[in-house]
Amino acid sequence: MECFHITTIDGPSASGKSTVARRVAQDMGYIYVDSGALYRVITWKALEMCVDINDAGALSQFVENIKADFFVKCEAVCCRIDGVVPGNEIRSQHVNEAVSQMAVLPVVREKVVGWLRSMTKFGNLVVEGRDIGTVVFPAAENKFYLDADLKVRAKRRHAELHDMVLDRDDGSEQCSNLKLVDVEGSLERRDTIDATRQNAPLKVAQGAVIVDTTEMTIEDAARFIVSHVMGK
Ligand code: CDP
Repeated sequence: MECFHITTIDGPSASGKSTVARRVAQDMGYIYVDSGALYRVITWKALEMCVDINDAGALSQFVENIKADFFVKCEAVCCRIDGVVPGNEIRSQHVNEAVSQMAVLPVVREKVVGWLRSMTKFGNLVVEGRDIGTVVFPAAENKFYLDADLKVRAKRRHAELHDMVLDRDDGSEQCSNLKLVDVEGSLERRDTIDATRQNAPLKVAQGAVIVDTTEMTIEDAARFIVSHVMGK
């Protein structure tokens, strides 16, 4: 039987998950998996193809026909979709606004959960998302839930969006004009959809350690998680 180790890090947007998970994976020599990127990739592709997400038949067909393959680059799992590796366009405001609605749909979740479970072929993993410790890998040895005050999360995301150089012209203009209050509103809307949906809602997994990063640096949070895992 194959033996692999999985650390899960769940939590709301801009709680520090991605950076912390990447750092933890690096420190432990594990492969980093960003599950949110997969929901973003599907959303970006659907928007590109003008798929009507309210048309169940069209959506199922679209999801069924997606050709994705995965590979490891710089100790992180990357996705190629229909032969293309998407860039920062999956982080555009268009995708931000639509992704949580896509992530509610059972056909989309089933697809992504299958992709994620197949990634154990790459070895030991640090996987971050919303339902990783509850649904995708409920038997994982080490589970964490990162959280932070909404205002602090909004500031972090606002700064990230400003730093981001988007490939698409429309996305880059939107980001540079984005107000803090709008970013906070967008995060709050996504938090609500993610935490109240019926299918795999965002919640603390059984056995997960809660880490509040409101007053923590990324380094502190990563160090805390690594020492917790190593100290077991
Ligand atoms: O980067 P950010 O934390 O804002 O979001 P993300 O991790 O890229 O995830 C984008 C969206 O995908 C979330 O708001 C969720 O709606 C969805 N998602 C999910 O439903 N389940 C996951 N395991 C990961 C993301």
